[in-house]
Amino acid sequence: MQIINRMKALLDRRLEKDSYRSLQVNEQLVDFCSNDYLSLSQNMDIAKKIHKKSIGLPMGSTGSRLLTGHYKLIDDAEQEVAAFHQADTALIFNSGYSANLGILSSIPRKSDIILYDELVHASIHDGMRLSAASSYSFRHNNLSDLEKQLKIHQSKNIFVFIESIYSMNGDEAPLIEIAELCKKNNALLIVDEAHSSGVCGKKGEGLCVEKGIEDAVFARLHTFGKAIGLHAAAVVGSKTLRDYLINFSRPLIYTTAINPHTALSILETYKHLNINGAVYVKELKERIDFYKLQMLTLSDYTLKSNSAIQCLLIPGNTKVLKICTDIKRAGFDIRAIRSPTVAAGRERIRICIHRHNSLDQIGNFTSILKKTFKQKT
Ligand SMILES: Cc1ncc(COP(=O)(O)O)c(C=O)c1O
Repeated sequence: MQIINRMKALLDRRLEKDSYRSLQVNEQLVDFCSNDYLSLSQNMDIAKKIHKKSIGLPMGSTGSRLLTGHYKLIDDAEQEVAAFHQADTALIFNSGYSANLGILSSIPRKSDIILYDELVHASIHDGMRLSAASSYSFRHNNLSDLEKQLKIHQSKNIFVFIESIYSMNGDEAPLIEIAELCKKNNALLIVDEAHSSGVCGKKGEGLCVEKGIEDAVFARLHTFGKAIGLHAAAVVGSKTLRDYLINFSRPLIYTTAINPHTALSILETYKHLNINGAVYVKELKERIDFYKLQMLTLSDYTLKSNSAIQCLLIPGNTKVLKICTDIKRAGFDIRAIRSPTVAAGRERIRICIHRHNSLDQIGNFTSILKKTFKQKT
């Protein structure tokens, strides 16, 4: 009873602070908030191919990867994913969340050091909690702070964990400089490419390939739940990395593998991206540039970003929620990012631009956004 009361009190506290979370069924609003940057979740060419080829497939994988859950379609998908991202191997996990847990819980050992950007995703924090290594944050995208910490811990094995595009800001990491620092200081670089997969690079190979540093990265994470339009994720890198994870990564070993329909969907989507990715990336970029142009007058309140994630800062949970609700009433789906997800005072509307957003939609949306912002702040 005491515990139930404690749970209720914590929920009440969230209600008081306007930080209470609840699940909402998607309404039919114009999408400016999903992670479907390339609109692949709705791509009928891919869907028809998957539908045709999936007839007769078993519905479940029937086991974990090391038992009956490994089959030819997963093998084929992993080879396609590895080739696309210009890596020797790929290993599919059930989600990006479990892949980050899988890397961090198995590779860094006691007496090793993990240095991570202060803005990394919750899944990286949770992975570090499962690791026996000591972890320290460095200031966001701050090369001198990273270098200082590399020097402090130079006698140890060091892992540096960053994102290529930061999920809550949309800004990109200085990848070339960080890769150089890691090389100079014998540190292993791990890059979570969740928000650059499908978006950066000529065909969507990710920011590491775009910058030409893929061979300098120890492990890259590509998630399929965002621009790829599906779910699950792959860790790409060397054969040793893959073999090690298969042997020691508990989030891979002790769970039922993705089903054949998902493996087929990953395979077909990547084949499609190989052919059409360059056009899609260009179309997305045109829309991002158009959005940014429309928002120039509010540039003092926006975070610098060239990616599909664009943010408008509106400090205070109550205010950001109110503005968000008004804009939703006008027919546009956006979400407020409140504290504690971001630091108090850094609350924001996180706007995602997609290939399926027409220039007209972006024009209408930005004029309502600007008008509401000016009236209510
Ligand atoms: C940077 C980053 N890494 C990992 C994840 C987790 O990926 P998934 O949704 O596939 O579990 C996310 C998802 O929000 C993310 O933004």
